[in-house]
Amino acid sequence: MVVFRAATPSDSEGIASLHVTSWQQNYRGAFSDMFLDAEALIERRLVWQARLNDNEPEQFISVAENEGAIVGFVYAYLNHSPEYGTLLDNPHVSSDMKGAGIGKNLMALVAKEADERYPHSGLYLWVLEQNEMAQNFYAHLNGKKIETVSGNDIGDRTILKSRYFWSDMKALLTKVK
Ligand SMILES: CC(C)(COP(=O)(O)OP(=O)(O)OC[C@H]1O[C@@H](n2cnc3c(N)ncnc32)[C@H](O)[C@@H]1OP(=O)(O)O)[C@@H](O)C(=O)NCCC(=O)NCCS
Repeated sequence: MVVFRAATPSDSEGIASLHVTSWQQNYRGAFSDMFLDAEALIERRLVWQARLNDNEPEQFISVAENEGAIVGFVYAYLNHSPEYGTLLDNPHVSSDMKGAGIGKNLMALVAKEADERYPHSGLYLWVLEQNEMAQNFYAHLNGKKIETVSGNDIGDRTILKSRYFWSDMKALLTKVK
């Protein structure tokens, strides 16, 4: 049975490992093979150790666990932008567990937290422009694609990324329930 819970510092290895596997499966070509296959795990371990050991109250990190293994995770930074609200960065679900409602549940946990703490604020995320599968998922949840820009803040190459935005947390909550 899949259980959803708040992440703890001891989850850093499990989350980093799933994150890199997901990047290898979905971001091939956007990041170099050298980065994906040799460097990303070290980089992601550092990112997740820092996030999970930081007592920053605006961070919200949840995992989905199945038989002791992390099969999904989501990170959010509440009220990150005065214009767009909470930053979602981003749901990833194990490839063998896709389509079972885990991604939607992770979105629901973030939307609930954001709605409780910042009810008049929105939610946004960045998705690689090449990641059509994820963009279709966000569009299915009524996210609005509002801009596409280039950036080099993730991976090892300059990538094109699109911003998806939900202006109304209650509408998103209804959609993901
Ligand atoms: C995108 C992702 C998080 C979706 O998670 P998931 O657990 O497979 O999705 P769910 O089973 O919760 O699906 C929820 C709903 O979205 C729909 N959906 C799922 N994937 C979809 C897609 N690619 N396109 C359109 N709709 C989709 C489902 O049919 C379901 O619809 P319903 O509630 O109306 O029945 C997951 O596929 C994933 O981890 N992908 C790889 C990593 C990635 O690219 N993450 C995003 C980085 S920006």
